[in-house]
Amino acid sequence: MLGDRSILKSYNSDTILTESDERKKIEQPSYEKIYEGREIILTKEFDGIVLNNNLKDILDNRKSVREYSGQPLKLNELAYVLWYTYGVKAVLGTKRKATLRTVPSAGARHCLETYFIANNVEGLEQGLYHYNGVTHGITLVKKLLNSCKEASGIAAGQEFIQGCNVLFIWTCIPYRMEWRYPDVALKYALIDAGHLCENLYIAGASIECGVCGIGAYYQDLADSLLEINMNKDNSEVTVYMASFGKRQ
Ligand SMILES: Cc1cc2nc3c(=O)[nH]c(=O)nc-3n(C[C@H](O)[C@H](O)[C@H](O)COP(=O)(O)O)c2cc1C
Repeated sequence: MLGDRSILKSYNSDTILTESDERKKIEQPSYEKIYEGREIILTKEFDGIVLNNNLKDILDNRKSVREYSGQPLKLNELAYVLWYTYGVKAVLGTKRKATLRTVPSAGARHCLETYFIANNVEGLEQGLYHYNGVTHGITLVKKLLNSCKEASGIAAGQEFIQGCNVLFIWTCIPYRMEWRYPDVALKYALIDAGHLCENLYIAGASIECGVCGIGAYYQDLADSLLEINMNKDNSEVTVYMASFGKRQ
């Protein structure tokens, strides 16, 4: 049986577009999720951290990496990849706001959120964290007693994930995109997620860390770990993950 393929399509030249909430002057949703709790502000001083800045070499040798050395990831290395995947370089506007980040997004809506499970990061207790790209800070969402098992469990039991330093989990807050692009919001959201993960592949390679994009995960387990769902006004859903670790 064929699935619904309409998400792949853009507008036709004669399509009458749905009037967006933005045009109806409905208030813009927040561009950043804020978590209560103690925020750890990360460094943006990345001097000396890059081991390979040869882009051609990085792209020629790019591959998905599923074996990790077991060495702990340094906090500044985590800060570096968080910044180069979802850091906010500027907040534009007064009434209608937009963020400019290290990754592109359709209409600068940036409808994704970054979480991660820290398995083996120097100075961080094992747990689920949320990254705020505006403050460049992380907040512990919940402690996890056995984060490696938890990470592998939500990633459909893929065992290699137990060895990663960090499992990144990206969610989508669809309304951020729907507010402007009601007809193609979901297509744009998923394209955005691809850009974000590719930034991680490139940034990771530059500090000799390996990445594997993860599309095979259990939706129910991931969403319940993050305590998010699609049934609320402020709905949010897990859309993509990536395992990340120090290379052997
Ligand atoms: C959207 C997406 C989902 C993926 N999901 C998984 C996954 O769940 N498990 C896995 O081991 N690899 C996953 N991968 C990695 C691919 O298997 C990998 O990119 C592909 O085999 C090509 O290998 P390469 O990246 O080393 O060139 C995924 C990659 C993408 C882009």
